[in-house]
Amino acid sequence: MSSRGSGGRTNGTLPQTKICQFKLVLLGDMAVGKSSLVLRFVKGQFDEFQETTIGAAFLAQSVCLDDTTVKFEIWDTAGQERYHSLAPMYYRGAQAAIVVFDITKPETFERAKAWVKELQRQASPNIVIALAGNKADLAERRLVEYEEAQTYAEDTGLLFMETSAKTAMNVNELFLAIAKKMPKTDTQNPTHAARQVRLNFGENWHFLQGPLTSDLKISE
Ligand code: GTP
Ligand code: MG
Repeated sequence: MSSRGSGGRTNGTLPQTKICQFKLVLLGDMAVGKSSLVLRFVKGQFDEFQETTIGAAFLAQSVCLDDTTVKFEIWDTAGQERYHSLAPMYYRGAQAAIVVFDITKPETFERAKAWVKELQRQASPNIVIALAGNKADLAERRLVEYEEAQTYAEDTGLLFMETSAKTAMNVNELFLAIAKKMPKTDTQNPTHAARQVRLNFGENWHFLQGPLTSDLKISE
């Protein structure tokens, strides 16, 4: 489903590939599975003992859609309350956000709603927001009903999926659904590319000095 971006050159037989790149941020309470969703999407792995995130982590992954390669530059934030004040640094300039809750913990659904409100007030006005009800494999311990979250998402204009980083259920599908909703501007075109980088990173321009496809860890 997902793959690294290709060059996009025309070789006479293949159609030209457009490359679009977007900043995406993951937000949500601690231990809901944000890092696990990213690890599943980027590396196809799952770790029962995934360590809590300190500050934030950066990874990149691409999704191919017909003639377009959509490259996500993913900021996986820390859910612990003491890192809340850092969040605006990561959602500022983001074109997409995944707000995650744990379907076995209703307080994390309430926290997700608070994140959505904060994004709607303070993030880019056109940001695409997806809500992920994670740990769907623990359905026997479910305390947030699918219909409740779906109704909230519909009323609020969010994409919604229940996911499982453990079983991989709906993980690629979620990123693909977001990719389909993103505006497609070719960032290979130098004029567009320059504008896109400024739009993507805003005041965080210095992060461009780090590698774009590795696990760059930003600490406190
Ligand atoms: P912070 O970095 O502290 O904000 O947490 P996080 O939201 O990044 O959660 P993390 O990915 O570290 O996962 C927390 C725990 O939940 C780990 O033990 C994971 O193995 C587990 N976990 C994550 N996703 C799933 C899932 O889909 N199903 C199950 N059963 N466990 C999961
Ligand atoms: Mg984490």
